[in-house]
Amino acid sequence: MGFNSSNLKSGYKSAALLFLFAVAASATFAQETTIPIETANNAMVLQVAKNKDLNTIYFGVKLSNAAEYGKVPGVYNQDDYTGMLNSAYTSSGSRNLVEPAISVTHADGNNSLDLKYVSHNITKVSDDVSLLTIQLKDPVYDFEVTLYYKSYFKDDVIEQWSTIKNNEKGVVTLNKFASANLYLKAGSFWLRQYHGDWAKEMQPEETQITHGVKTIDTKLGTRANLFEPSVFMVSLDKPATEDEGTVLYGGVEWSGNFREDFELDPTDNLRIIAGANNYASAYTLKTGEDFKTPAVWYTLSDKGRGDASRKLQSWARNYKLLDGKGTRMTLLNNWESTYFDFNEQKLSELLKDTKKLGVDLFLLDDGWFANKYPRNGDHAGLGDWQENKSKLPNGIAALVKESQTDGVKFGIWIEPEMVNPKSILYEKHPDWVVKQPKRDEYYFRNQLVLDLTNPKVQDFVFNIVDSLFVKNPGLAFIKWDCNAVIYNAYSARLKDQSHFYVDYVRGLYKVLERIRAKYPVVPMMLCSGGGGRVDYAALQYFTEFWPSDNTDPIERIFIQWEYSYFYPAMASANHVTDWGKQPLKFRTDVAMMGRLGFDIVVSKLSGSDLQFAQDAVKTYNSVKQTIWQGDQYRLSDPREKNVASIMYLDAAKANGVMFNYLVNYRYDQGSKTPIRLKGLDPKKNYKLKEINLYPGASSSIDGEKTYQGDFLMKVGFNPQVNTGRSSVVLQISEIN
Ligand code: GLA
Repeated sequence: MGFNSSNLKSGYKSAALLFLFAVAASATFAQETTIPIETANNAMVLQVAKNKDLNTIYFGVKLSNAAEYGKVPGVYNQDDYTGMLNSAYTSSGSRNLVEPAISVTHADGNNSLDLKYVSHNITKVSDDVSLLTIQLKDPVYDFEVTLYYKSYFKDDVIEQWSTIKNNEKGVVTLNKFASANLYLKAGSFWLRQYHGDWAKEMQPEETQITHGVKTIDTKLGTRANLFEPSVFMVSLDKPATEDEGTVLYGGVEWSGNFREDFELDPTDNLRIIAGANNYASAYTLKTGEDFKTPAVWYTLSDKGRGDASRKLQSWARNYKLLDGKGTRMTLLNNWESTYFDFNEQKLSELLKDTKKLGVDLFLLDDGWFANKYPRNGDHAGLGDWQENKSKLPNGIAALVKESQTDGVKFGIWIEPEMVNPKSILYEKHPDWVVKQPKRDEYYFRNQLVLDLTNPKVQDFVFNIVDSLFVKNPGLAFIKWDCNAVIYNAYSARLKDQSHFYVDYVRGLYKVLERIRAKYPVVPMMLCSGGGGRVDYAALQYFTEFWPSDNTDPIERIFIQWEYSYFYPAMASANHVTDWGKQPLKFRTDVAMMGRLGFDIVVSKLSGSDLQFAQDAVKTYNSVKQTIWQGDQYRLSDPREKNVASIMYLDAAKANGVMFNYLVNYRYDQGSKTPIRLKGLDPKKNYKLKEINLYPGASSSIDGEKTYQGDFLMKVGFNPQVNTGRSSVVLQISEIN
């Protein structure tokens, strides 16, 4: 049927009817069931309409009278023909005209879905955590969806996911299967998103959202964040600043293809639909089967970006990041000091250097394995996880033993999801490799990805880790790398290829579950050719992540700054390397804003550099607890000012550390004006003493002077940063 004016007229008529219906419905909203999801400061309020649609009627700062949420829809005159622009989980193929959260093809080939409220239930998981479940069902098809909202009261965070269940007599195909469907009202919306590539992670872009749909997604499979991570900020009415404005943070807990749609709808409200990507991933469900979507997390603050990030960091430490309240080990890594060129003798010397430096652990990087195709470069050996006999004739065991004698711990690099075509693994199990049977292979860093949808591959990957621990019970740390994206996605085993991307990630999590069941606490670093993979699903298994191979400290100030909005410092693995032009002190100061490590040739350090590094490790040990567990305040933005300044403050507001760096090296730049501190107790008195000084250097700061918190927050403090003092660390201590 063509589109003609009579259709148009009847279209308007039914739209008008719907509109009248919507107006009539809004008049009775007060009587309708509202389901508030409240946290300390915010409320998201859902409402069951008369026709049993589940809609979002409010998401923002809590109202003081909860009884008034029902009045919210009544004060908007926005014509919604469908009555479902604010659906809490938008289905497609019925009345919906906009981006759906879910789209299905039923067993009989029909594409329509209409989800109606059935019931809901709230359970208290703990004093702080509640779980709301809402049951939805299609009145025509035996098809149901359960929505889950897990709310973390103190930190104002919500995690949301859904379970989609097919009870039909036959196979249903899920064409889209989002986790969350948010709905926000404001005068304008500003999206801060991130893009990047190797060594250029977390580059921010902020733009006003215009009408239509803006999608942020990845189709890379593994190393999913290489071009863009799923973390985002949406500011309401105007771009939020560090301390002002209303801002929503969100991200998908999924270490593979994700998708986020930001739709400014015809009535100027923002719909955000986020979850795993449906790209090439139509998922079939047999009768009785269900599909659990990954979780999407979000938090809202009306006090700017800084407050949102502190809440998120606190939530991460309390609930998400593995061992988020625990400790981390300082380390010496050999990647940049040796690359693939080492042997037992060299490593033995590095173990002694580890001790000399005073760090906790030595981390042996890539290059220790494979014999038929030795891992002497990145073109061979991945997949053959036996010690290389000519480099390590006595195996890892001898090194672990030696490390114990030296009084340091030992960690090791693996990249267990990958294979080089030049490997015994590839020769023996070509069917374990992700590749198109009839097409040429195409490589990323000379390697291919193993098919983790295959349980045999899952066993293989689990066994790489397990046998390392079984053979070397003293092994204390794993760096888990993932350097390739997925090209030519295809599994030799899967019947339904469109399950590949989802089942890959599920396979990965199965392996990580097994590892954590057996080795619950051993620290593991999540690395992905730099920062290609970090999200809050993975961080339930990993204790830290590698933000970028780019360790030039100037670059790192920017990269770490942006990551810090979403992840706590203790999760950020920061190494001092030879990248960049800055002196050792500057490089070390920047690396201290996280989990400190070194990747330098200790034996080649000058006497005073070595002395500085040894002292820096001790200094770090004395302040690391504040950096890891304290609240982070961003004081001076390197994108706006010549000096970057970041502080960490403990919960008692008694001890803090303030890091200051010169980021603009043009003539006569420096901290001309004081930098205002934040978060202090205005009534308390503090001293600010310069720490981590280079041997022989004296500070231009009088560490004995006391300042009231009020002064430091209203007037500020000058760290005396200039080209001669390009990096200044101040210890803040309360004076009793
Ligand atoms: C990736 C990592 C590096 C290093 C190399 C080893 O690039 O990001 O830190 O481990 O692999 O090949």
